[in-house]
Amino acid sequence: MFRAMTVPLGLLLALLGCTTALDPVLEEAWERWKSLYAKEYPGEAELIRREVWENNLRRIEQHNWEESQGQHTFRLGMNHYGDLMDEEFNQLLNGFAPVQHEEPALTFQASAAQKTPAEVDWRMRGYVTPVKNQGHCGSCWAFSATGALEGLVFNWTGKLAVLSEQNLIDCSRKLGNNGCQGGYMTRAFQYVHDNGGMNSEHIYPYQATDTSSCRYNPADRAANCSTVWLVAQGSEAALEQAVATVGPVSVAVDASSFFFHFYKSGIFNSMFCSQKVNHGMLAVGYGISQEARKNVSYWILKNR
Ligand SMILES: *[C@@H]1O[C@H](CO)[C@@H](O)[C@H](O)[C@H]1NC(C)=O
Ligand SMILES: *[C@@H]1O[C@H](CO)[C@@H](O)[C@H](O)[C@H]1NC(C)=O
Ligand SMILES: *[C@@H]1O[C@H](CO)[C@@H](O)[C@H](O)[C@H]1NC(C)=O
Repeated sequence: MFRAMTVPLGLLLALLGCTTALDPVLEEAWERWKSLYAKEYPGEAELIRREVWENNLRRIEQHNWEESQGQHTFRLGMNHYGDLMDEEFNQLLNGFAPVQHEEPALTFQASAAQKTPAEVDWRMRGYVTPVKNQGHCGSCWAFSATGALEGLVFNWTGKLAVLSEQNLIDCSRKLGNNGCQGGYMTRAFQYVHDNGGMNSEHIYPYQATDTSSCRYNPADRAANCSTVWLVAQGSEAALEQAVATVGPVSVAVDASSFFFHFYKSGIFNSMFCSQKVNHGMLAVGYGISQEARKNVSYWILKNR
């Protein structure tokens, strides 16, 4: 309450709005948000979704106000997930679970002799395709895998090929991947290896569903995979060396917090971040930034 004295008016209204179900002041913003993302709800559902959205909006504004007071290094923003509760978001989109007994693979260890640059950003060197959108499908693992292969294909051929997530979704089931219900990057690579190649997004487009059968066409091979390396688990030093020397690397993160769902800009950092990873992403670089006279190191991650 003490703090509310210096809170901007909009936030103050929102805070007071906590006690009533819906805030009439937000009517226009709600209509604008719905039309922006083409959202329509049948009957009662609209009230429930509006309440979820208002709650998310209040938390976003609260966080951004704290950020303006120097309490955080990143900002949040309303987005197309605004009508989802955290649990719903996690069920819909986080499609990665760590394998209990990882299949044997070569391990990339940090080497004391290896010097890495202070900053690396593969986007600047043409290794990274534009950000895609996985839709309402837990296929993050496929996007993470195509991202890593796209970087390697660029290194080999000098050409940036956009690779097909749908190819991985439809064809890697027999290796234990589960389409829109989740999967593993390692098993996607294994599929490309065993299959002797994979297709491009262009000839095998994304559908955000997992009900089609495999339509891989060997005549249109766009990438190969000869060897899979696992970065030593939990070692940021090994990951840094792998990113610096190989290119973009598939990683998994804990993406279950509210702050992750509405991340907008800045250096993400959360005390609600655990070792329980559930979302596949792509490490495309790292760096160090001066924040309030402290050096803060960060990873640059591409999200689907
Ligand atoms: C591919 O990687 C090698 C070894 O790191 C490097 O020398 C070469 O310049 C890279 N090629 C491209 C196109 O970036
Ligand atoms: C994949 O490997 C095969 C066999 O080694 C080779 O003929 C083909 O050119 C490779 N394709 C790509 C896209 O690298
Ligand atoms: C921050 O990093 C710069 C160069 O990367 C270094 O010169 C400086 O001493 C560091 N500052 C602190 C507070 O660690």
